[in-house]
Amino acid sequence: MDEKELVLEAMNARKMAYTPYSGFSVGAALLAKSGKIYRGCNIENAAYTPSNCAERTAFFKAVSEGEHEFKAIAIVGGKAGAPLSDYCPPCGVCRQVMMEFCSPDQFQVILAKSPEERKVLSLRELLPFGFGKNDLGKGESLHENV
Ligand code: THU
Repeated sequence: MDEKELVLEAMNARKMAYTPYSGFSVGAALLAKSGKIYRGCNIENAAYTPSNCAERTAFFKAVSEGEHEFKAIAIVGGKAGAPLSDYCPPCGVCRQVMMEFCSPDQFQVILAKSPEERKVLSLRELLPFGFGKNDLGKGESLHENV
C-alpha cells in the first residue's frame, strides 16, 4: 500500500460523505498496522453537534473492529460535488483521537489534492506537546484491561 493508493481510497470514501448542511465533503482512509484499510466520511446531522468528521469515522470503525495500531491516514476534502482544490487538514478533535492510538513520531498524516499532490506530516507536527495516555501514567497498560 503506497501513499497514492491510500489517497485514492480516501477519494472514494469522500463519495459517501453526507453533508447537506456544510456542503463540504471529506474522505479519509486509515491504514492499520495489520494492513487493513478503514474508510471514513463526514456524516452531518440536522442538530449539527452530532456530526462526525471523516477521520473519526475511520478511526471508530477500525477500533470497533479490534484495531489499535495504525501506520497512516490519507485525508481529502473540499466543496461537495466539486473537484478537490486544496489540502484539508484534520480538525483539533480528530488530532486528539489520533493521539490516543498513534505514535506522534511514526504516524503519518497524508493530506492530498490529488493522488500526485500530497503533503505528509507527522502527528507531532500537527499536535505538538499533545496530551495523551502517558500523561495519565497509563501508557501501554491502558489497553490491557480491555
Ligand atoms: N470535517 C471533517 O470531516 N474533517 C476535518 O478534519 C475537518 C472538517 C467536516 C466536518 C463538517 O461535516 C464539514 O467538514 C465542515 O466543517
